[in-house]
Amino acid sequence: MDVERLKARAAEISERERGRLLERTPRSKELYERAVKVLPKGVASNFQAGDPYPVYLDHGRGPRVWDVDGNEYVDFHGGFGVNVVGHAHPKIVEAIRKVADQGIHFAVTTPLTVQLAEAICERFGVDQVRLVNSGTEATMDALRVARAATGKDRVVKMEGSYHGHHDALLFSVVPEADTLGVRYSVGGEAADTTGSAYTTQPTSRGIPRSMWQDTIIVPFNDAQAVEDLFREHADEIAALILEPVMMNIGIVVPKPGYLQALRDLCDRSGVVLLFDEVKCGGTIAYGGAIERFGVKPHLACWAKAIGGGSVIGAFGGDASIMEWVTKGAAQQGTFNGNPLSAAAGLAALTQVLTRDAYEHLGKLGTLLAEGCQRAIDETGIPAHTVDLGAKGCVSYRKEPLTNYRDFLETIPELFYASFTWMVNRGVFMTPGDEEQWTISVQHTEEDIARYVDAFAGFTQELVR
Ligand SMILES: Cc1ncc(COP(=O)(O)O)c(C=O)c1O
Repeated sequence: MDVERLKARAAEISERERGRLLERTPRSKELYERAVKVLPKGVASNFQAGDPYPVYLDHGRGPRVWDVDGNEYVDFHGGFGVNVVGHAHPKIVEAIRKVADQGIHFAVTTPLTVQLAEAICERFGVDQVRLVNSGTEATMDALRVARAATGKDRVVKMEGSYHGHHDALLFSVVPEADTLGVRYSVGGEAADTTGSAYTTQPTSRGIPRSMWQDTIIVPFNDAQAVEDLFREHADEIAALILEPVMMNIGIVVPKPGYLQALRDLCDRSGVVLLFDEVKCGGTIAYGGAIERFGVKPHLACWAKAIGGGSVIGAFGGDASIMEWVTKGAAQQGTFNGNPLSAAAGLAALTQVLTRDAYEHLGKLGTLLAEGCQRAIDETGIPAHTVDLGAKGCVSYRKEPLTNYRDFLETIPELFYASFTWMVNRGVFMTPGDEEQWTISVQHTEEDIARYVDAFAGFTQELVR
């Protein structure tokens, strides 16, 4: 298939669909003009920005959302993976109502907080947890505890992975192709003398230079690179952090044996293996990646889906490591374990996201992925689908991805054309090609059919 021709076609579709989207969303435009005076880019987080403005939402119910112009969509954005419970789930609403009536904040631990901690420990098979308020806080605090427990400073992360917006891990998240260090290169580009690591690229301005040297970058799905690195530097490395399934470049699944190899290497080298399950936990299986791949880390982080839509994060693991929060590793926060989040999270984990729920999510996910794959096969466009419980995606590269550098071979122009096409056909999507769909327990087969039909229409339009 002629890729340049496809890109040109995608540009035409984007242009046309974008015009339509702007016509359908005059109130979003108005709100943007008001918002941008008080909020940079008119939004509360850079990830919520849009070009020339975002579609602002008004409300949601079940699997659907409505924008401020009254347009209705089936929601596959899922609040970046939070809304596996769907919108306004009666069990979550009831739990929140009850708390609202009885005091939503004390900064004192309540029985609900203890119950939520028990539910998280049971579900993910860990000894102890601490509750925080976001995925960022979870990885930030877990890393501190790992550093305290090992008495070492450096951390290893994967190229192309995102672990939140605190300084220590905001490196090489989306490095541009021309700034990538070449592996095994000579001439000082690599971060260690064996050349097993990539160069460390800050992903934000404002990160102190003094922090760069403590974050070492390696490729995903390459246990040999970690082994080489540990051989020389294990005595400096506190933790190896990774998303067990990379979910900020589409979806990249671990090769068979890879996660276990990392666990073994960490055990041998006195390094804390830290799973960032902020996106996997609560979406890809009842017990997240730990259950799905059968490998237990020393510490893990959760957020997003475990709160049932409320503001939440958590990290936990082996008691022998968690006990460092009682031995000088600062771990605290005014809102940690607040009743509102605890009630919503507890209702989500114990009443909504049951084992049965994952069967439903798995069935719908496969229906969606297979439907999209059929459309890809019929038109021959360079793309593939990934199916992983409540999560899945279309990536615009023929072969599945194994790491970040494969992601750089995807064709973003096709994604951007698909985004406006889908939104104009009532399918609400995340605006970036690094994201994926999220299905909720309230989605039905009809909702899936709506996505598949819209996507099939898009692929046909691309090759017309
Ligand atoms: C894997 C991963 N870790 C951490 C975070 C940060 O979570 P939060 O946005 O709640 O701070 C994200 C956010 O998307 C994430 O995808």
